[in-house]
Amino acid sequence: MTLKLLKEIFSNCLNEYYSQEEINTLFHILIEFYLGINKINYIQDPLYIISKKNISLIESKIKMIQKKTPIQYIMGEVEHKNIKFKVNKNVLIPRPETIELCDWIIFNQKKKCKILDIGTGSGLIALILKKYITGSIVHAWDKSPLILKIAKENALKNNIEINFKIVDILKNVKVNDKFDLIVSNPPYVDKSEMQFIDESVVKYEPHSAIFVEGNDNLIFYKKIIQYSKDALNSDGVLYLECHTDRINFVKNILKINNFKNIKIKEDLFGRKRMIKACI
Ligand SMILES: C[S@@+](CC[C@H](N)C(=O)[O-])C[C@H]1O[C@@H](n2cnc3c(N)ncnc32)[C@H](O)[C@@H]1O
Repeated sequence: MTLKLLKEIFSNCLNEYYSQEEINTLFHILIEFYLGINKINYIQDPLYIISKKNISLIESKIKMIQKKTPIQYIMGEVEHKNIKFKVNKNVLIPRPETIELCDWIIFNQKKKCKILDIGTGSGLIALILKKYITGSIVHAWDKSPLILKIAKENALKNNIEINFKIVDILKNVKVNDKFDLIVSNPPYVDKSEMQFIDESVVKYEPHSAIFVEGNDNLIFYKKIIQYSKDALNSDGVLYLECHTDRINFVKNILKINNFKNIKIKEDLFGRKRMIKACI
């Protein structure tokens, strides 16, 4: 079978689930990842013959895509800012707005510092900050060993040194250490909002990373802000990713807790998604 024919079959199998643009993107991501054929190779030689083994491989991936499995979980890996992250069902798939949050921190933080990432998941924020804020010491917490196992693998694979620890931030965590910068992208979606969330997110991504248990959808912010008040050094700074509808509530909690110089930043889509505050 030629590459061109494989693309036609791919398209026919998925056109009831995705737009043509999405199908094209998925096809090129998959054939580059699994067959090492990039878009230029495709344009130059669409009649390239694909082996039976590789056809079966792509067919098995088509079945997964039809079941709405996110492409990142199918490949088991994503790359951001020249760091490769293993991802599986235990960790949230990195989101573009979180990379934007990291870029904002890197832009603001000109000198090395001691950083804590609360709810590290794949280790996304911790690894990026350690790599791009040279000389910094980075600690990263999450609540379960299964999650930290992935983050640790990612740190090891990329040769990035992070101090990982199992910590449940909703428990009363003692302040044993001080930090210059605390950052978190905590769970912030209310369970009642599940109906508005994309089907593939609800079906495949870890609910404990996305949804807040109980009826206080700001509980993580309250706990993190309370903890940061005591755990930040005197010129320390806190960065939080937020739900756009609730960012003003987070701002108020920061104000009540005497945080200063509070700044809200929009993401590339113009949504207010991240907030920075100084102690
Ligand atoms: C929205 S995800 C963010 C993951 C990663 N930092 C990122 O930005 O891609 C929230 C993370 O908080 C963790 N988490 C949930 N409840 C927690 C708790 N009580 N204590 C510590 N971490 C928690 C989840 O396991 C998950 O990894």
